[in-house]
Amino acid sequence: MEELVRLCKARGFVFPSAEIYGGFRSTYDYGPLGVLLARNVKDAWWRSMVQLRTEVVGLDASILSSPKIWEASGHLKNFTDPLVDCRTCKQRWRADQLPTTEDGKLKCPNCGGTDFTDARPFNLMFKTFVGPVEDEGAVAYLRPETAQGHFVNFANVLQTEHLKPPFGTAQVGKSFRNEITPGNFVFRTREFEQMELEYYVPPDDAQRWFEYWCTERYEWYVRLGIPREMLRLRHHSKEELSHYSAGTADVEFAFPWGWGELEGIANRTDFDLKAHSAASGETLEYFDSSTGERYVPYVIEPAAGVARTMMAFLLAAYTTDEVAGEERTLLRLHSRIAPYQVAVLPLSKKDTLLPLSQEVLQLLQPVAMCDYDITRAIGRRYRRQDEIGTPLCVTVDFDSLEDKMVTVRDRDSTTQERVPIDRLVETVNSRLAW
Ligand code: GAP
Repeated sequence: MEELVRLCKARGFVFPSAEIYGGFRSTYDYGPLGVLLARNVKDAWWRSMVQLRTEVVGLDASILSSPKIWEASGHLKNFTDPLVDCRTCKQRWRADQLPTTEDGKLKCPNCGGTDFTDARPFNLMFKTFVGPVEDEGAVAYLRPETAQGHFVNFANVLQTEHLKPPFGTAQVGKSFRNEITPGNFVFRTREFEQMELEYYVPPDDAQRWFEYWCTERYEWYVRLGIPREMLRLRHHSKEELSHYSAGTADVEFAFPWGWGELEGIANRTDFDLKAHSAASGETLEYFDSSTGERYVPYVIEPAAGVARTMMAFLLAAYTTDEVAGEERTLLRLHSRIAPYQVAVLPLSKKDTLLPLSQEVLQLLQPVAMCDYDITRAIGRRYRRQDEIGTPLCVTVDFDSLEDKMVTVRDRDSTTQERVPIDRLVETVNSRLAW
């Protein structure tokens, strides 16, 4: 984990936010490679959830949201964590995450003390004010999940898209929670991105669709390169279920500190649509004109986090091996996830090679995200590309000027193949596991 945090900083994936001021409360910024990685994670999710399906459409609801939404959804009342203070060292903790002593008392991870204040509910939503006056009438919340933006748009989507259950809305965007104990790098932060699908189904089919999405979402991580032994699906016990859920399972990843949630799949029943319907007075139901049937659909919700998924991909891909007697670090990232798919590397930065190298780069840029590097010796540039997970390097050398061929090097095997430039796009497309 320490190695990964170091690599993330050194290679420009993730920087501590406001670092020049000593950092700011577990917030992070994504650097040049981090934004590419995050974009690829979101694109891969969108591709499988929207692009390759016919019954799912996109949505992008506002982050600033009306208190009425959170009152109806139950978040104002229920979206709380039990907060306790250690009386010895004054640190604040989530009571449900504290270790216990042998005789069952809560134990402070900081000082080992066992004297705590009584647990009190702490609402995780960030409250703010819209407009110049900071009074109760101006209160708004930063959304703590994207889900409610789907539910309050249920009727709008149904009207404009003429969909019939099963159908879904997909949304990717920021959410905010005033977490008591953020930590484990970007695993738990107060500002984070979610990828959520709300899938509306006939109530009688809800269990079948719940099981479908558990399998589908687990397999998505496997298809993108996470070994099965690093993943598990864990069903929640009754006591663990959220106030809206009739059944939840988490896709968990074997993080260095133990199993941790990547994504939750929940059967939210008709809780949300009924709650918003009751609070707003709007009818939120599906009417089937062919059968005359009218019902409130159940919702199956696969909800994933971008940063946790990024971390899981990085941790699963991080490896070291030996090449020509030297140790190398590499990220065996799937080509959909790797920040760059191709690096174009002129063998030398002599002027003679650069025009052809630029031509090769321009040929590849429309099909893949390309890095272009003319610094240092070629061996060191290969190492850098291995370390950031670039699946293919294309080297332009002095022979290329004569024979119009380039060398394509594979990250994992380090094998090299000479390829005619006029067949390069075809070769790259077939080599990348698109
Ligand atoms: N709409 C349901 C919902 O929000 P959740 O399990 O609270 O469910 C879904 O969140 C996913 O969002 C989690 O599995 C996790 O990947 C991500 N997530 C939640 N809280 C987070 C936090 N504080 N920091 C980073 N990611 C978080």
